[in-house]
Amino acid sequence: MNIPTRVKLLEVGPRDGLQNEKQPVPASVKIELVQRLQAAGLKEIEVTSFVSPKWVPQMADNAEVMAGIARQAGVRYSVLTPNLQGFEAALKSQPDEIVVFASASEAFSQKNINCSIAQSIERFAPVVQAARAAGIYVRGAMSCAVGCPFEGEIAPERVSYLAGLMKGIGVQHVGVADTIGVGTPLKVQRAMDATLKHYALDDVSGHFHDTYGQALANTLACLQMGVWQFDASVAGLGGCPYAKGATGNVATEDVVYLLHGMGIATGIDLDKLIDAGQFISDFLQRKPNSRAATAILTKRNS
Ligand code: HMG
Ligand code: MG
Repeated sequence: MNIPTRVKLLEVGPRDGLQNEKQPVPASVKIELVQRLQAAGLKEIEVTSFVSPKWVPQMADNAEVMAGIARQAGVRYSVLTPNLQGFEAALKSQPDEIVVFASASEAFSQKNINCSIAQSIERFAPVVQAARAAGIYVRGAMSCAVGCPFEGEIAPERVSYLAGLMKGIGVQHVGVADTIGVGTPLKVQRAMDATLKHYALDDVSGHFHDTYGQALANTLACLQMGVWQFDASVAGLGGCPYAKGATGNVATEDVVYLLHGMGIATGIDLDKLIDAGQFISDFLQRKPNSRAATAILTKRNS
């Protein structure tokens, strides 16, 4: 086993987390969440997305949120860009990184971004080119890398195929996403292996939704492969509006608890992270969807 000694967590709560919330979350709350996350030691934060406001109204304040953050040196701020229109809008906000997002399943590609996989790659190619020319790092998300809400199980070959397409247009890093949280460790390892046919270990990450409670097990399975980059969402916020029934990403607090317990460094202050999760959960009038946060908050209050 080549378990890493250090892991980089990419916080996706402000984007993947909040995009699914029905009630409008004011830009000021999103900005404060980002501030609290960076104060807790997160070095990479997915802030928002430059997608159609008709498709995802919650992200319509993208430019306002990006402008409102007091940026901290050493922190990377990323945004989703589905097409050139989104990229050009995003450029004005000076993101450090953009994310193009494709799907390993045709049906989900249609539902999420209204085009086929092949068309999405055609759309992303000029975005990737423009971003790289502007010195902006390009990450790719590969949705439904294990299962699709419409097509069921997804074979590793389809993940490999998509990873090859991403590599072909110059995407520098790809995330293996279990969008609907149906994956279990061996299936996730196979999807990761399929990706590693095209990308180096240093250029892949895991993005696990926790719908079936498997995300921590899937994280551990990838750690055992040497994967050292993972996305997570504070307080377990989120889901994708175009993947019905899918719940949030694995809670960042739970991943940090797991990693620190294994002696793996993250640079994150778990207490401050829990406070950030409590802050956004209070706003949303619910409890944090994190077992570690719940346990530690109970202990604090007793
Ligand atoms: P479309 O309707 O096919 O786009 O949507 P279009 O090019 O035909 O344009 C139609 C209208 O949208 C036009 O406006 C455009 O100006 C506008 P109108 O003339 O009707 O007033 N438009 C835009 N507006 C703002 N920003 C843009 C933009 N592009 C077009 N970038 C499109 C295609 C991709 C835009 C749409 O399907 C879309 O926005 N989809 C985004 C869906 C989304 O955000 N999903 C959630 C994020 S992905 C995710 O959560 C998965 C992930 O976490 C990994 C995982 O877990 O799997 C990353
Ligand atoms: Mg997601």
